[in-house]
Amino acid sequence: MERLPGFRDFYPEPLPSKDAWSADARSYLFDQWRAVARRYGFREYDGPPLEPLELYTAKSGDEIVGQLYNFSDKGERAVAMRPEMTPTLARMIAGHQRNYPKPIKWFAIPQLFRYERQQKGRLREHFQLNADVFGEKDPSVDAELIALLIDTLRALGLTDEDFVVRLSSRNAWQEFFVQRGGTPDRAYAFFQVIDKLEREQEAESARLLQALGFALPDVQEFIRAATPTEELGLILSQLSARGLSPYVKVDYNVIRGLAYYTGPVFEAFDRRGEFRAIAGGGRYDNLVKVLSGGKVDLPALGFGMGDVVLMELLRARARLPEFTAGIDVVCLIEDEARRPQTLRLAQRLRDAGRAVEFSLTAAKPDKQFKRALELKARCTAQIEPDGSVRVRELKARDERRLSVDEFVQSMTQAR
Ligand code: HAM
Repeated sequence: MERLPGFRDFYPEPLPSKDAWSADARSYLFDQWRAVARRYGFREYDGPPLEPLELYTAKSGDEIVGQLYNFSDKGERAVAMRPEMTPTLARMIAGHQRNYPKPIKWFAIPQLFRYERQQKGRLREHFQLNADVFGEKDPSVDAELIALLIDTLRALGLTDEDFVVRLSSRNAWQEFFVQRGGTPDRAYAFFQVIDKLEREQEAESARLLQALGFALPDVQEFIRAATPTEELGLILSQLSARGLSPYVKVDYNVIRGLAYYTGPVFEAFDRRGEFRAIAGGGRYDNLVKVLSGGKVDLPALGFGMGDVVLMELLRARARLPEFTAGIDVVCLIEDEARRPQTLRLAQRLRDAGRAVEFSLTAAKPDKQFKRALELKARCTAQIEPDGSVRVRELKARDERRLSVDEFVQSMTQAR
């Protein structure tokens, strides 16, 4: 039976085919995401993968609503698989923000579902690192969040030659819009046209803009000038103080498709422009208020970084480490009479936190050794007739004889 289109199986390495997805690479990615988020003082949260449909129809915007995986459950509730984490998080925060000192800095790694047309970098499920901050209006928080985004990609071995964060501002566009006579009812439609500028034919963009009362050359000039607003200037200077300037540039082509953003917005892209966005986010100071029916008013900002594009980029730039089974010791059983002693040894090593393998049924010694090589184990250990252990380091090809206690001791210390 085939899996559904746009969904993935994850296999342990070595992979069964070139286009298979790696469970090892996924764990590695999640470990790095978690480590860097914790370095920035973010705490982990999670929420339900299935939510009431109206959580998304309220504020996410038409694009995401059009991609919802929704249905009626057996209790005839209108529900949707979560297409993004932000509304869930805003709801959680609105409910319990009083228990947490501000600013609240939280992260999650949810699996998300969008019924999209399948294309490069876009599937019907993906994982996202989400990092969000609540309760602080100052742009220094925007700088901190962008620094986290940059460091997450750096931790994966990517450099300023591989990616760039394109920084923009809904406020800057809002000002542009109002100065030229835009009316509030047309703002979202205008933002949608700007969001699609790079992907749309020029003539079509010009037509859409004209219908809203704007001229394409005027829009293009505003993007070309890329004059940072005061707020963006502060963010840039704080990133510069961290030594992260080479990773950011002002780029008003970015405006973000989602409806709830209010202030600075940003997207990370590969430098060569071969892939879709790696990550995107920004300020959404009104969402908590809307989702809490006006009860809680907390400024907020955050970003989402998807695993699909990022994994494509890491593969293309050969930045993924080699993944093995991570076995420390393969115990070789030359004579079945020594299996009980070997089991005792294996147990002691595992108790000491080492990863241990051995043949569960009788097998020829050369077959057992070959398996140790295949597993890329650090060493083999064989109990000899006199009860000592013959240890072979597979990389160094070094051989030693130790007592069982000495060997367990050495494996307890060594990492
Ligand atoms: P988003 O731009 O829709 O933002 O998604 C963020 C990232 O998730 C994208 O840059 C992309 O890498 C990945 N992504 C999105 N859709 C797909 C897909 N169908 N297949 C593979 N990858 C995908 C949000 O979701 C916001 N909620 C992020 C946010 C958090 N804003 C504030 N806090």
